[in-house]
This record gives sequence, structure tokens and C-alpha cells, in this order.
Amino acid sequence: MKPTIFITQPVFEPVVQELSKYCTVTRNTEDGPPPRDVLLAALAGCHGVLTQLNDRMDGEVMDHAPSLRVISNIAVGYDNIDVPAATARGILVTNTPGILTETTADFAFTLLLAAARRMIESDRFARSGQWKRWKLDLLLGTDAHHATIGIVGLGRIGQAMARRARGFAMPILYSSPRRAAPEIEQELAARHVPLETLLRESDFVSLHCPLKPDTRHLIGPAELALMKPTAILINTTRGPVVDEAALAEALRDRRILAAGLDVFEKEPEIHPGLIGLSNVVLAPHSGSGSRQTRLRMVEVASQNLLAALRGETPPNLLNPQALSHKSEPRPSGSGG
Ligand code: GLV
Repeated sequence: MKPTIFITQPVFEPVVQELSKYCTVTRNTEDGPPPRDVLLAALAGCHGVLTQLNDRMDGEVMDHAPSLRVISNIAVGYDNIDVPAATARGILVTNTPGILTETTADFAFTLLLAAARRMIESDRFARSGQWKRWKLDLLLGTDAHHATIGIVGLGRIGQAMARRARGFAMPILYSSPRRAAPEIEQELAARHVPLETLLRESDFVSLHCPLKPDTRHLIGPAELALMKPTAILINTTRGPVVDEAALAEALRDRRILAAGLDVFEKEPEIHPGLIGLSNVVLAPHSGSGSRQTRLRMVEVASQNLLAALRGETPPNLLNPQALSHKSEPRPSGSGG
């Protein structure tokens, strides 16, 4: 018998057709994550689920899905999934690393340039009819080339950001709990420094660390106070890495120059203090949003899902420890 899967939100149709060859596909065809009761009911008899980064998968959800063998997240980040809870229940969890690295770094660098050169303000001004003549001091921005960039988290996307910065002749500082391999530091000409030094010395600070308990509000009032008044903050990782209220205040009071934000603490809400500011460029969590990359993410997530359902070790398994729980029966959960 084919395994049953649930697709929590619309994905590209050819991938659904492909999955239908091997699985009985059930799905939510409405936009957005399904309401909790719909999710719990839908997962009751499912063996696999294809999730997106705004689907919250916690222990209670898993307890309603006694047959669930795999949660395949269409994202590299997986802070929406309680991985230890999945491991304890023998449920495999997978993500889509690697394929979105370059696309996300492109977007982070786009935000950097857009904030530095006041691209959005310039566009609005050019359309507004207020442009009367060339003017020496019109909408002056700040240079990115040769400015120092501080990269917080030198993982795959952080490194891709650093390579772009190299092309702009930007000196590179980075901070991360673990130092990168010497050959990576050499290739990127990146200097490992404590976060405080990075914040004090950088003209641009770009965040690329994952959201974890110890990176929640990594950038708060104290850290913003260390930054130069001419500095620009870029966030394309996860909103809660930054204390958004503190950032809105710092931008309003021009304690830092500008910001480029693709992620927010309570998406899709954006802190009201940010909305009216002209010195912040806002985007709706679009970092990996190129047609090619989003399609590839769904394909890779479905390959992860199918591999797990075939009893293989999926390519992007986050919790190999769950493999050893796999054959243990789970009580059919009433949840709770
Ligand atoms: C996007 O934010 C992702 O984690 O893939």
C-alpha cells in the first residue's frame, strides 16, 4: 500500500504529480498554514508531511500523528520544528540546505546595496513628480565598496555573502562560535573577531546565524549601541535574532544609519515602528525567492520525504538519532 502524505500548503504542481506516483497525497489547497485543528486531523493517518517554514510542528502535533515517519521542511531553517520532540518519537526531520545559499546571499547583498544607496527612496522619488533637476546632494547614500563588513555566522550563506563582499573590495570580519577552517579564512580574507569588536568596527553588519535559544535577540539595545552611527544592519536569517523594537528605536533616533530586513519577529507582522521609517528597506521573507531555487527546494524536500518513506536515510537528515527509534511502536496519540 502507498504511504499517505500531507502537504501543508500549496507547492508546485509537477512535484505533487511526482509524489502522487508513490504516495497517497492529501493536501491543504488554501493559502497559508492550515489551522491547528485541520493540521491535527489531517496528520492522523499520515506517514509523511511536507512542511513550510511557517508550519509549527511541535510535540502535540506529532502526538496526533502516530504513523508519522518523516517531516520534510521546504527550508534550510528548521526553527519551526521541535527536532528533539521528533527524535524522541522516531520521526525523521529533513531540510533543504545548500541549494538556496547563493540565491539568499544575492538577496542579502541586494538589501545591503539598496539600504546603502537608498534605492527604495530613490524609486519613490523618481516616480513622484518631485524630481526637477540634477542636484549635487540629492538622496546621498553611502559607499559599499571598500567599507568593512561584519558577517555574523560564517556558514554556507555567510560565506557566500563574504565572497560577494570580496568583489566589492570590502574588508571582512566575522564572528561565530566556531572559527572557520584556515583555508576558508584565507580564501575570504576574513578575520575572526568577538561579536563586540565586529559591531564596533563594521560599516555593514549582516546576520547569517541560525535562530537558536542563544541567538534570540542576539542584536538588542546593547549591541545596537556598539554599532557606528553610520552603520547598516542586514538581516536575512530569522527575525527573532534581532530585537525589532530596539532596532526600530535605533533607526528612528539615527543611532544607526539604516537597515535592510527580510525577516521579522512575528511574520507577517512588522513592528509598527519600522513601517514609517525611510531608512529601512523591508522585504517579505524573500531571500530564497527565485523561481529556480524555490522549485529546487520543493524537489529536494520531496526527495527527502520519499527516501525516508522508502526506509532509506534521506540526504538531508537533521536527526540521525531518530533512526534508532524507528522500529519502536508509538502509542496512537490522543495528543493533549
Ligand atoms: C528560508 O528562510 C529558509 O530557511 O529556507
